[in-house]
Amino acid sequence: MKKQVISIFILGITVLLASCNRTSDRDTSNSRNSNKSDVEIGEKVEALLAKMTLEEKIGQMNQYNGFWDATGPAPEDGDAADKLTMLKEGKIGSLLNVVGVAQTKELQKIAVEETRLGIPLIIGYDVIHGFKTIFPIPLGESASWDLEAMRISAHIAAKETAASGIHWTFAPMIDISRDARWGRIMEGVGEDPYLNSVAGVARIHGFQGDDLSNTNTIAACAKHFAGYGFAEAGRDYNTVNIGISELHNTILPPFKAAAKAGVATFMNSFNELDGIPATAHKELQRVILKGDWNYDGFVVSDWASISEMIDHGYAKDKVHAAEIAINAGSDMDMEGRSYEVGLKQLVEGGQIDISLIDDAVSRILRLKFKLGLFDDPYRYCNEEREKNDIYTQEHLDIARDVARKSIVLLKNQSKLLPLAKDISSIAVVGPLANDKDSPLGNWRAQGEKDSAISLLEGIQAVVSQTTKVIYAKGAELGLGERSFLMPLKINKTDTSGFNEAIKAAQQADVVIMALGEDAFQSGEGRSQVNIQLVGVQQELLEAIYKVNKNIVLVLMNGRPLDISWAASNVPSILESWFLGSQSGYAISDVLFGDYNPSGKLPVSFPRNVGQEPLYYNQKNTGRPSNDQHVTYSGYTDVSKEALFPFGYGLSYTTFDYSNYKLSSTSFNGKEPFYATVEVMNSGNRTGKEVVQMYIRDLVASRTRPIKELKGFELITLQPGESKTVRFEVTKETLEFYSANNKWEAEPGEFKIFIGGDSRTTLEASFTFE
Ligand code: NOJ
Repeated sequence: MKKQVISIFILGITVLLASCNRTSDRDTSNSRNSNKSDVEIGEKVEALLAKMTLEEKIGQMNQYNGFWDATGPAPEDGDAADKLTMLKEGKIGSLLNVVGVAQTKELQKIAVEETRLGIPLIIGYDVIHGFKTIFPIPLGESASWDLEAMRISAHIAAKETAASGIHWTFAPMIDISRDARWGRIMEGVGEDPYLNSVAGVARIHGFQGDDLSNTNTIAACAKHFAGYGFAEAGRDYNTVNIGISELHNTILPPFKAAAKAGVATFMNSFNELDGIPATAHKELQRVILKGDWNYDGFVVSDWASISEMIDHGYAKDKVHAAEIAINAGSDMDMEGRSYEVGLKQLVEGGQIDISLIDDAVSRILRLKFKLGLFDDPYRYCNEEREKNDIYTQEHLDIARDVARKSIVLLKNQSKLLPLAKDISSIAVVGPLANDKDSPLGNWRAQGEKDSAISLLEGIQAVVSQTTKVIYAKGAELGLGERSFLMPLKINKTDTSGFNEAIKAAQQADVVIMALGEDAFQSGEGRSQVNIQLVGVQQELLEAIYKVNKNIVLVLMNGRPLDISWAASNVPSILESWFLGSQSGYAISDVLFGDYNPSGKLPVSFPRNVGQEPLYYNQKNTGRPSNDQHVTYSGYTDVSKEALFPFGYGLSYTTFDYSNYKLSSTSFNGKEPFYATVEVMNSGNRTGKEVVQMYIRDLVASRTRPIKELKGFELITLQPGESKTVRFEVTKETLEFYSANNKWEAEPGEFKIFIGGDSRTTLEASFTFE
């Protein structure tokens, strides 16, 4: 039944396609549209608003799925034919999951030519780590700690997206995520507020550039506002219970940074916070975001998060849900059909004031003006660009560079790596070794199935002609058809490929084993309680280890894994996440020494799932560790420390830290104050180091974490070369959301730590007075 309705919609669009092709491609350069002043846009919005009926206003606040490619449950009471009618009546302001110049142009044409006021649509899509050229998953890319790399990858994603007729991405996700069980941990920056803030801003700049009306840029969306990453037990969509300090000190800083950086939109979130769904959260959206932070963009709900307030037990029906959401400051209803059902009667019945609608619509129209859509609604619809600007060799080369920067070397015993390119034999083993699909990760937009360079292909491309490469899969991982919305089946029993893999390993000097997760093990709704190597992978690893201990384990995964066994037994381990289109080349660049690994973990790797949520920036507690007694805050069966901590990552060279000093032992918040350290490359290869600075506020009106990242610098050093790295510490560096419920720096003792990971003990103290 549903299929039939979908085809009616598509048929309608196809009929219109013919007429669309007659509309000439207008000039899509940004000359006529650049840098519209806010005043000018404000006047235009006012004038348009004055002409709009209530229905037309509400129409702007409705966003519907295009039905080609759903990214959430289909609404029970919506259908495609109905949407086409609504579109013609000016009752839809935005669509999502409509991709490609032909489709976007067609729908835009209806909005512009068939509705009374001709207001263009804004079309959104989840472009999370690349459009067709796929970059590392955001968690992986964040391991580069290279803000310019993140900016460029977002910029290329924007360029390809815009060339496909789309104006808006639902990214970056800047939810602090500290629980490896939560599948969406792959989509963000990990556990730290500072890293989330700067990475989020870098990505926003990449997507949006300096000028939204440039046809190479798209609007970004800071999501999910707020607390979504704190779902209890790491179960997606689950309840969130956090206090004021956690909310302000941990969760909100990246969002504040995003608002300050001018992110065009915010998305609220599915979760409730202390009993109030985020979508209904007036304090978050109206008081903090639109009030304290003076944010003038708009807030889109998450997929049906307005109507889901009925399931939360917070709204009795869609009308009630609409009332709550608009009051709280949700400007656009994504696929929830609550605004469509409820807003008109709520305004007419006097339950909500028209000024709330006007404010929401103004925010939405403002962005449409900024994007230049009123000047030329088809400016993003250019077949030439769609043909020439997507998946280019230049983009793929950049994707390879970003990918290799994202790899983290976790272990390299006896310097097994890098391997010589003329090594006589290599066994390439594992379910992910020749996988051309999983490296694309989840949320891969238009990344084509099986289009990634596999690890095996990467290795074959780089080794000498005399090297014997023996491939054996060993076992399957994900079984059957795999896709965004389908549950994944894991092979838990079939070990029939083991013998071939063992034979391959027996013949080889080195075994490169690619293990980890299927791409569809992480992402939305992909929570897991088991974070070890799933299926028969651990068994395979141990079987290979019995015959050849020279193993390089290449991990592909979207979440931190418990790899305790491998960490104790396997000599070399590379964390390669899901690296995108050029995965195999990027990993081989590192395996064979063409690139010296420089990534550092943006998230702690646990020893056991029972430690989750795990993060370096914990509180000390009243009973910090004491190995002599059980009555301390730890575990009796496993250390409470991470297996590999936040900020950690090795290089093929080594770095020595010395001459660490502060410019003074006291700081008054006014005079310049610095922490400096000398870093030397003490090995024999050029390498990059992420020099990290952490602070600790020893006594405060709300307890503070044992360490907090407050700055980092990525430096390159030649062998024997030294650099002095200087971090400026300002009053803002020391501020936190205090017991006075405001951001302030409290006088007292502080420590500053500097080093190559969050476990550094290189410390110095000062007094803030
Ligand atoms: C639900 C996800 O939570 C959100 O991040 C995404 O942008 C929307 N679906 C649209 O696909």
